[in-house]
Amino acid sequence: MSLSLLVYRSRSTNQLKKDKVVAMSKHFAVRNRDRDITGMLVFDGQYFMQVLEGPGRRSLPCMS
Ligand SMILES: Cc1cc2nc3c(=O)[nH]c(=O)nc-3n(C[C@H](O)[C@H](O)[C@H](O)COP(=O)(O)O)c2cc1C
Repeated sequence: MSLSLLVYRSRSTNQLKKDKVVAMSKHFAVRNRDRDITGMLVFDGQYFMQVLEGPGRRSLPCMS
């Protein structure tokens, strides 16, 4: 089976509080687990950097 890997950086347009980012990340983690996607999300208060790896060509949220 093929694997897709996505690495990107994006700038947040809103001022996000830590609680909001933690809640988002927990929500994404459940969705990702259900879809056999692994990865990590880093946020420095302005930029997100995310690594996602999943089965097939169209499994990753940003690529479908
Ligand atoms: C910074 C950031 C990280 C995201 N990471 C994930 C993720 O890991 N998994 C996921 O399913 N959606 C993630 N999303 C949400 C997707 O971009 C998209 O909104 C969502 O997958 C849409 O799913 P649906 O069309 O099935 O409702 C992220 C959004 C942002 C802004």
